Amino acid sequence: MSLLTLTEVGKSYRRTPALRPVSLDLEPGELVALAGPSGSGKSTLLMIAGGWETPDTGVVTPHPPLPDRPMAEQQWDHVGFVPQSIGLFEELSITDNLVFPARNRQDRTDVTKLLETLDLAKFAGRRPARISRGEQQRVAVARALVTAPALVLADEPTSHQDRAHAELVLTSLRAAADAGATVLVASHDPLLTQHADRTITLAGA
Ligand SMILES: Nc1ncnc2c1ncn2[C@@H]1O[C@H](COP(=O)(O)OP(=O)(O)O)[C@@H](O)[C@H]1O
Ligand SMILES: [Mg+2]
Repeated sequence: MSLLTLTEVGKSYRRTPALRPVSLDLEPGELVALAGPSGSGKSTLLMIAGGWETPDTGVVTPHPPLPDRPMAEQQWDHVGFVPQSIGLFEELSITDNLVFPARNRQDRTDVTKLLETLDLAKFAGRRPARISRGEQQRVAVARALVTAPALVLADEPTSHQDRAHAELVLTSLRAAADAGATVLVASHDPLLTQHADRTITLAGA
């Protein structure tokens, strides 16, 4: 049974198409790469898949249906998101950035282990402003995985990584899929194809 089905989902801003209609069926346990040129709608598709944007056309069907609560409340419980803009909580330490989304969970992944896996252990006590952009991006990856959500959406999660750290990021996302999550990764990174089960390519404008 699929976790999320998108049927002919499309979106425009005014009359400019942001995402040409696309259909996508996502199963638990798979890592799907989302490719396509800049401006083809990869970020828009991730926002629609997460429920933060409404498509103009088409239907989004999550299984089971998401609870009828404000998206902000349900976000971290069901969906792990790595934004293209990273967006950490600036007042919180790296550790507390990970503890926050998992605060109501019994079954949270061990924060210390996740920090080690992503080569972040030595920054645990620092604020985001005091680590590099690449390190911040890996914190965003850890934050998306810490609740072991059913759906993980990652927007260019290796864009600020060197090759070795890109491997750590992709291996972590692969491990989440192997543990049963549905993982959708927008990226141009050629390394991604080695970790993905399949690739969906969006057409450019
Ligand atoms: N809020 C917005 N208002 C107007 N245009 C937007 C908005 N968000 C995205 N777009 C446009 O939609 C298109 C697709 O954007 P995006 O989903 O970010 O593509 P990608 O992630 O593949 O680079 C782009 O042409 C972009 O400029
Ligand atoms: Mg994008």
